[in-house]
Amino acid sequence: MSDPGTKLDLPRPEIFDFHGVTMVHYFTDSWEKVQNFQARPDDILIATYPKAGTTWGSLILDLLYFGKTSPERQTSIPIYERVPFLEITIPSMDSGVDLAEKLPTTPRIIKTHFPVQFVPKSFWEQNCKVVYVARNAKDNMVSYFHFDRMNSVQPEPGDWNSYFHRFMEGKLTFGSWYDHVNNWWKKKQTYSNLHYMFYEDMIEDTGREIDKLCSFLGLSPSADDKKQIMNGVQFDNMKKNNMANYSTILVMDFKVSPFMRKGKVGDWKNHFTVAQNEEFDEDYKKKMKDHTLQFRTEI
Ligand code: PPS
Repeated sequence: MSDPGTKLDLPRPEIFDFHGVTMVHYFTDSWEKVQNFQARPDDILIATYPKAGTTWGSLILDLLYFGKTSPERQTSIPIYERVPFLEITIPSMDSGVDLAEKLPTTPRIIKTHFPVQFVPKSFWEQNCKVVYVARNAKDNMVSYFHFDRMNSVQPEPGDWNSYFHRFMEGKLTFGSWYDHVNNWWKKKQTYSNLHYMFYEDMIEDTGREIDKLCSFLGLSPSADDKKQIMNGVQFDNMKKNNMANYSTILVMDFKVSPFMRKGKVGDWKNHFTVAQNEEFDEDYKKKMKDHTLQFRTEI
């Protein structure tokens, strides 16, 4: 790892088409190595479109498995090392695969933003548990916009209106939100070890969603443990927690926008114009034909 505190001066990447998905090289440079990653049967994969609640879900998982047995993890290892980001490769930092292979824990909790068709086949072969978190498109877009402003691993976002159109065209890193959420949703129909969660449900009732997650994972934390976890993953507490708020990572500029930004449902209303909202809704209807997959843009 680089000297902590020294920001990496990374050139902003260009987007390109990669097997039909918009990507940047920081997530494709290790393609072969990532595709050949050997998952273990007890590995847990947390998959999301960027900015859908990955870190929130990751911390919940980490606390569920290790909060009691290894409390020191919580105060000494940043979340992005406890839950490595499989496909990332940044010069002078350990790659996601390297971090995942070095994980001493059982299970290993591993993060990906890949669309479902990019996931290394060993995860399916090993029948690993997979947790997918989805967030409504409008808030997801807003969160991604602010993230791209402050994160040099991502292309410059440009102005809001052009970003808004590129989101609808699927021209952001990791491709189309619409394809991502739909194809992962379809996967659930054939792969039973997949738990599909919604950011809005987590905001509405975190405890209920943790219970559902636990029942999927076959865990039964005590009431006390659950209380502690709920407290640890509360937005304000995560925002203050340097091991969960990404303040130690070297590629983000919090002066532009913090990683833990608002954590709300409905912030899109502060960004979308009335005309943009109409254009968006019209286009959304055409793209989201599977009515079994429903998102809430307010709660
Ligand atoms: S990343 O970079 O893709 O891994 O980002 P990700 O963690 O998926 O998404 C970041 C957004 O999730 C919000 N967040 C939370 N919201 C509510 N409660 C909790 N505990 C929480 N933790 C993270 C975070 O604030 C980002 O959303 P925005 O809307 O930008 O605030």
